[in-house]
Amino acid sequence: MKITLLALAIGGLTAAMPAVADEALPSNLLYDAGKEKKTVWPLPVKNSGELKYNEHRQDLSKWPTLSYEDKRPTKKAEKVELQGPLNGNAENGKKLAMNTQRGNCWACHALPGDVQPGSGGPPLLNVGTWGYSDAHMYQQIWDRRVANPGTEMPPFGTNGVLSDQDIRDIVAFLQSLN
Ligand code: HEC
Repeated sequence: MKITLLALAIGGLTAAMPAVADEALPSNLLYDAGKEKKTVWPLPVKNSGELKYNEHRQDLSKWPTLSYEDKRPTKKAEKVELQGPLNGNAENGKKLAMNTQRGNCWACHALPGDVQPGSGGPPLLNVGTWGYSDAHMYQQIWDRRVANPGTEMPPFGTNGVLSDQDIRDIVAFLQSLN
């Protein structure tokens, strides 16, 4: 059975990873899909210039990646409409945005309270003053590809990483930033 090299679900991480030519990939990247943790993750071996392939601590096989090894079809960009009033909890939204297992927004965006923000996307320190509607922000987080098909930002709603309510909470958090 075939498995996936999780090369880079998150484009923002690519910069930190050494580039590896396809032919340099070890053949044991073919992996047992019956195993609990199916996804491998390249890590540089200190002072050697080499990469070691480790099992990722999570099974990420549900998410498509940018790896050439990953032949699964990518889900189409989803256009969504925010229904009814926002009803978001900003405090919970902040937790989700700062949670590396969920939103992980600070991997790419500067947000208040993070000490070492990513720079892949624009700083969102005062995004609440940009004049964006809740509906606009909701769509960007659900699936930014509707606005920019080549975006690096993962489609959190389409890929099922964040729920409708999670995204409402994050929008409430973003609108509170000024
Ligand atoms: C892998 C990097 C990455 C991650 C993770 C990421 N973003 Fe982004 N985001 C971007 C980039 C890059 C842009 C700039 C526009 C573009 O390239 O599409 C952007 C743009 C935005 C914008 C501005 C959209 C506009 O219309 O101007 C908002 C708001 C935003 N992101 C919110 C978030 C939130 C909230 C999260 C976490 C749930 C998040 N982003 C996670 C990369 C990322």
